[in-house]
Amino acid sequence: MPTAIVTGATGITGTAIVNALVNAPEYTEIYTLSRSQKSPEHPKVKHATLDLQSSADEMCKSLSHIPPVTHIYFCAYLANPDEGEASRINGAMLSNFLEALTKSGQTIELKHFCLTCGLKQYGVHQGQPKNPIYEDDDDSLVWLEQGDRPPNFYYTQQRILEKHAADHHNKWAWVVTYPQDVIGFAKANFMNLTTSLGLYCAISKELEGSKLIFPGNKTNYLSFNNWTSARVHAEFCLWAGKTPNANNQRFNVSNGDAQSWQDMWPRLAARYGCNIPEKMFPAGDERKAYPGYEMSYTKLHDRPPIAEVAAKIGLKDEFKPSEIFCQINLQEWAKRPEVVKAWETLRDRYGLDQGSWDGATWDFSTFVLGRNYSLIGSMSKARKLGWTGYADTWDEFQRTFKELEDAKMLPPAANL
Ligand SMILES: NC(=O)c1ccc[n+]([C@@H]2O[C@H](COP(=O)([O-])OP(=O)(O)OC[C@H]3O[C@@H](n4cnc5c(N)ncnc54)[C@H](OP(=O)(O)O)[C@@H]3O)[C@@H](O)[C@H]2O)c1
Repeated sequence: MPTAIVTGATGITGTAIVNALVNAPEYTEIYTLSRSQKSPEHPKVKHATLDLQSSADEMCKSLSHIPPVTHIYFCAYLANPDEGEASRINGAMLSNFLEALTKSGQTIELKHFCLTCGLKQYGVHQGQPKNPIYEDDDDSLVWLEQGDRPPNFYYTQQRILEKHAADHHNKWAWVVTYPQDVIGFAKANFMNLTTSLGLYCAISKELEGSKLIFPGNKTNYLSFNNWTSARVHAEFCLWAGKTPNANNQRFNVSNGDAQSWQDMWPRLAARYGCNIPEKMFPAGDERKAYPGYEMSYTKLHDRPPIAEVAAKIGLKDEFKPSEIFCQINLQEWAKRPEVVKAWETLRDRYGLDQGSWDGATWDFSTFVLGRNYSLIGSMSKARKLGWTGYADTWDEFQRTFKELEDAKMLPPAANL
C-alpha cells in the first residue's frame, strides 16, 4: 500500500495534495512536514515539524520517527526577492532533504518523488513567452540561461533532483510539475491570488459606489490565460505517481480551459454585488492611473522570452520588453485610509482573521493582473499519456472563495 511524505504540507499546493491523499483510499499513511502551522487532523495524517533549512543530520533526527514511504511530494517553498538567493535557499532545502532521506534509510521503499515547480520555468516573469507553451519547446525557451538572464531556482532544484536520482541508480522515479497561477486554499502564504482578489472585491463593495475597477490594464483584461486549481494539481501529482509512462518527465499542469478577466470580472462583480464602470480603461494606449488612484509600472527583462525565437518565427526585432502595469497600484490601494477602515469594518462584522489582511499578496496580484501578455501552457503532453483531469476555472475560484469564507479569511459574499 502506498504511503507518503508531503513537505510544505500547509502551503497552497501542499494542502491540496494532503487532501487528495486523504481521499485516496490506496494511501494508508501520510506524513506532513512544515515549520509553523499544522495539517488538519485526520486518522491517516501525522504531522511533524521539520525545518528544511537545517542540516541533513538535523533533518535525519526528525525523519527517524517516520517509517520509509513509497511517495514523496515536495511542495516546500521559501520566497526571496533576490533570484540568486531564492536559488541558493530553495536549492539547499531540496538537496539537504534528499541527503537526509538517503542517510536515514528513508529511500528503501521509495518509488516516486514529485517536485512542484511552476510556469516561471519558461521565464514568464521576464516577459511574453511564445504561446502556447510546450514542455519540449526549443531549449532557448525552456531553459532561459542566456548570459543576461537571472538565475531560476526551478533549474537549480531540477538539476539537484535529477543528479541525486542518477547518483542512486534511478531506483526511484521523479516527476516535475509546472503549475500556472494557482487557485487554492492556504493561510498567509506567499502567492495567494484568490485571497487577495476576494479581499479586493469585498472591500470594493464596502466603499462608496461599490465600483469594481479592474486594477490591471486593458491588454491583460482582453488576454487569455490558464489557471491551475490546487485540487487539479494535486490529482495530477497522484496520477503521475502511478503512471510509469510519466516517469522522469516534466509537465505543465493547468485546469484545461482557457479563461480571461473580460469573462471573469463581471462574474466577480455579480458575486460581490458590485458594479463595473462602463469605461474602465483610459482611451488610447497611454499608461494612466485610474482617476483618483496611483498607478504602478515595472519594465521587465530587455528581451521577453519569445525574443529568443523571434527570427525563427519570422518576427525578428519585433519584441520590446514586456511590462507590468496596473492602473491602480495595489500596494498603495491597500494603505488608503478608507480601504483599511473598510477591512476593519468587515473584519469586526464577520469575525475575520487579521492574518488574511496582513498576509495578502498584493505583489503577486500585481503581476497576475498587470502583465501585458497571455500565458497558455499546453496540456497535450500529459493528455497523450492518459491524463483526463479538468476543472472549470471560474468554478474553482468560486469553490475556493467559499472555502476561504468558511475559514474566516474572507467575508461571506452572499451577505455583503
Ligand atoms: N502559489 C502559486 O500561485 C504558485 C504558482 C505556480 C508555481 N508555484 C510554485 O509551487 C511551489 C510550492 O509553492 P506554494 O505556493 O505551494 O508555497 P506556499 O503556499 O508559500 O507554501 C510553502 C510551504 O513550504 C513550507 N516551508 C517554507 N519554508 C520551510 C522550511 N524552511 N522548512 C520546512 N517547510 C518550509 C511552508 O510552511 P512553514 O512556513 O510553516 O514551514 C509551507 O507549508 C513553489 O515552487 C512555487 O514557486 C506556486
